[in-house]
Amino acid sequence: MARYETVYGNWQDDPEGFWMEAAQGIDWITPPSRALDDSTPPFYRWFADATCNTCWNAVDRHVENGRGDQAAIIHDSAITDTKRTLTFAELRGETARLGGALQALGVGKGDRVLIYMPMVAEAVVAMLACARIGAVHSVVFGGFASRELAVRIDDCAPKAVIAASCGLEPGRTIAYKPLLDGAIDLAEHKPESCIILQREQERADMVAGRDHDWADVVPGAAEAECVEVGGADPLYILYTSGTTGKPKGVVRANGGHLVALNWSMKNIYNCDAGDVFWAASDVGWVVGHSYICYAPLIAGCTTVVFEGKPVGTPDAGTFWRVISDHDVKALFTAPTAIRAIRQVDSAGEFIAKYDLSCFQTLFLAGERADPATIDWAAEKLGVPVIDHWWQTETGWTIAGNPSGIELLDIPVGSAGVAMPGYDVRILDEGGNEVPDGTLGAIAVKLPLPPASLPTLWNADERYKSSYLAAFPGYYETGDAGMKDETGRLFIMARTDDVINVAAHRLSTGEMEEVLAGHKDVAECAVIGVADELKGQLPLGLVCLNGGVNRPHDEIATECIKRVRDEIGPVAAFKLLAVVKRLPKTRSGKTLRATMASIADGTPWNMPATIDDPAILDEIAEALRGLGYAK
Ligand code: COA
Ligand code: AMP
Repeated sequence: MARYETVYGNWQDDPEGFWMEAAQGIDWITPPSRALDDSTPPFYRWFADATCNTCWNAVDRHVENGRGDQAAIIHDSAITDTKRTLTFAELRGETARLGGALQALGVGKGDRVLIYMPMVAEAVVAMLACARIGAVHSVVFGGFASRELAVRIDDCAPKAVIAASCGLEPGRTIAYKPLLDGAIDLAEHKPESCIILQREQERADMVAGRDHDWADVVPGAAEAECVEVGGADPLYILYTSGTTGKPKGVVRANGGHLVALNWSMKNIYNCDAGDVFWAASDVGWVVGHSYICYAPLIAGCTTVVFEGKPVGTPDAGTFWRVISDHDVKALFTAPTAIRAIRQVDSAGEFIAKYDLSCFQTLFLAGERADPATIDWAAEKLGVPVIDHWWQTETGWTIAGNPSGIELLDIPVGSAGVAMPGYDVRILDEGGNEVPDGTLGAIAVKLPLPPASLPTLWNADERYKSSYLAAFPGYYETGDAGMKDETGRLFIMARTDDVINVAAHRLSTGEMEEVLAGHKDVAECAVIGVADELKGQLPLGLVCLNGGVNRPHDEIATECIKRVRDEIGPVAAFKLLAVVKRLPKTRSGKTLRATMASIADGTPWNMPATIDDPAILDEIAEALRGLGYAK
């Protein structure tokens, strides 16, 4: 068996040869003559002279190779208590017909299609159908509100939208269609057509001429062939939070994505064709793109599309029930989900109720995995629990434990070692490498590996200024951490205003922009405070305009509603206090990190440049009023 060090060394010695060999796992229309095109640094393109089709690789080729009757998608809804299986042959037909319906509406290669859907099998069908016809999809998470959707519509200018009438959260139905209609009203760009999947729980009103019922236009549509696209052509755009209110459109290109994701299924997740893989995330996040939709299918695995929550749908045994029912070999979820289960079932009684003999590994990512959660899961489940670290931008693991190569001994608290393709360095502010065991900014030497973002959608300059400017020659991850002498990485915190709430990446800067829009708010700050379940929660502090003397409770309620209405329930924004002043440096920079430390009760030093230290006492009092800074 190959050793991790050998595999990583092979990549270091000959990156081009390494990726060309990995490219053999993909069906190309025109095979690549080389892996990396580095002719226009700092922009790098992978498999740029090849042509291919991602849907062919994820679907059709498995039918051709005799897997037509194998389950491709298992949809399991713990909310509606229903299950449905689509074989690869059925999935081929569904994607071909939806692709045909999109083509009939005038959608072609390079056109954008926005997808706004809950966790139904059709969400994956929609992504694959776009890939099939060479259209570029942009999936928006259902927990985002109209304004967020509108920002994305204006940025990627979709020709068409595919949406569902509603999503289902425990105990309530979320009508998606009015949110979509509201977004299209708000947006300057108007999509020409919408295909709406009518779910029986809440049917949507249709706009004549623009909206088409999936049930009317898809079943009879001509089946679309897989369209030839360039290896460096975009497959999708996925928006993620940055430091400002304007989300970043991370671009993913077809060729490198196929190669890296295919490589990852065996080498990182130890899954082969025919195995059942379950990523309990949402199609709206990168984990959903890479490991609900693309990677398992590209590798010929069965993927589980799960609609439900780890607890309460109906109980804390749901995850174990799904694993047992569908023969799941590997589960990928966020630590938050395991914390939620552990809070309800610390003795692991539900685990004991199910036959989990099929289950081999639990993978965690999306936020820092706290040792207590890892230890609990490892003990109760009796399988390796693997933390791994990656980002929307990379699309797959930067650091992890390559279980299909060799299960390394990784200390709890470390996210593992760098994967081939990633030369990870820890840098000080001046861009110099720091000694092992020292905290610094985590950066990756350019070029980033296949599947990583080549740029931001229509924003090359922003790509450079956001990721490449801080440390010339490196990609700045936005995370801080350290490396030990054996190369194990420890991911500690973000270096920017991004917070991580239930493994959802959110921008405090964006929440501040929304709060600042309230008529009575003069200035504000949003910080991330520690939360036992969700890892972090956003907490807002607002100062009011002079002369405002309405009750503070009333203003707080309005502010909280404003964030929910404009960003969406996913922000989980429920903590807000009105304060007289915000602590600042003499140069006027708000001391957010200091306030967050006070809230969490973690050690902090009085900033030397603080304008007026007494303000911190006022802040501490306000935080105590919200149950923090105890
Ligand atoms: N559409 C509409 N609303 C949604 C939504 C969706 N797709 N997903 C979540 N929401 C809403 C929730 O209903 C909730 O609303 P509420 O404030 O009215 O209760 C709010 O957004 C926050 O959702 P969430 O963070 O999921 O919290 P929760 O309390 O419903 O559930 C957990 C808590 C821990 C069970 C849940 O966060 C979880 O399963 N986390 C796992 C994280 C995960 O999979 N992350 C993906 C990245 S890997
Ligand atoms: P996203 O782009 O939404 O996947 O969020 C990426 C961010 O989540 C990273 O930059 C980290 O801050 C955080 N993150 C993801 N995985 C881990 C992990 N295993 N440990 C610590 N933080 C993580």
